[in-house]
Amino acid sequence: MSPGINLKNIKVAVIVGAGHGIGLGLVQELRAINSKCRIYATYRDSSRAGELLDYSSKLEEVTTFNVDPINENQIESFFESLKGQKIDLLINTVGTLVFENKGPEKSLRDINIETLTNIFKVNSFVTPLIAKQSKKYFSKESSSVFCTLSAMVGSIGDNKIGGWYSYRASKAALNMFIKTISIEFKRYNLRCSVLAVHPGTTKTELSKDFLKNVKHKVWTANESAQNILDTIEKSSTEGTGLFKSWDNTTIAW
Ligand SMILES: NC(=O)c1ccc[n+]([C@@H]2O[C@H](COP(=O)([O-])OP(=O)(O)OC[C@H]3O[C@@H](n4cnc5c(N)ncnc54)[C@H](OP(=O)(O)O)[C@@H]3O)[C@@H](O)[C@H]2O)c1
Repeated sequence: MSPGINLKNIKVAVIVGAGHGIGLGLVQELRAINSKCRIYATYRDSSRAGELLDYSSKLEEVTTFNVDPINENQIESFFESLKGQKIDLLINTVGTLVFENKGPEKSLRDINIETLTNIFKVNSFVTPLIAKQSKKYFSKESSSVFCTLSAMVGSIGDNKIGGWYSYRASKAALNMFIKTISIEFKRYNLRCSVLAVHPGTTKTELSKDFLKNVKHKVWTANESAQNILDTIEKSSTEGTGLFKSWDNTTIAW
């Protein structure tokens, strides 16, 4: 059993994809738990990051960076700007359901190579690029967490209704990246818990057009962020290479 992380005591956190939605909620809720933690928050589209930029401009501990997460050079420069500080918590929130207003596909007739490729780039490929560039910033001495927001629909075991081809498959691929990263981090003796977390249905830019028929609870971005942080803290004591839901239950891969 790992001692895990205590969010009240961590010193350095990185939130990739903090411009709006759950990522912005994570910055605000982490800050509410621990006002001394240095938070490095990235965003891509400045036209949607107004609230983050306004929020961070008043706080010395929150620093923002404009980073396109599918550009590896930009990810590398971002981590270099941490100047060797060890990361206690990293969360990647980057994800999309649509590409140029196409997707999610209901049927095979909606499949096309351009949408598939672009959705996989955003949902699957960003995490291993971040892991590659951030690996040396995780400690062998103290506990830390590397987490990516996945989705329940990426669970192969849970897929009973089909549809949403590129989103489902790209999140399933993301889960395999997470499991594989967890094995490599362990091999390097990093005391880092590598997690995929499903945030639960949350009202954001990504989900807003798909909430009409939802029968279960829909969280606000800040409620969702609280659930995720709670789950991360609890599961960091359980090990690494885990796929968790917002309430800390384990999801079938
Ligand atoms: N909301 C839900 O109900 C729900 C449910 C299950 C899982 N999730 C997962 O939770 C995560 C956060 O989503 P959210 O609900 O907070 O949605 P959101 O507000 O739309 O945030 C999505 C994030 O992904 C980035 N992004 C989107 N398209 C991108 C692209 N083409 N290139 C680079 N970055 C891109 C956005 O950055 P920019 O706007 O700056 O580009 C933003 O930071 C996602 O991984 C999503 O799959 C959400």
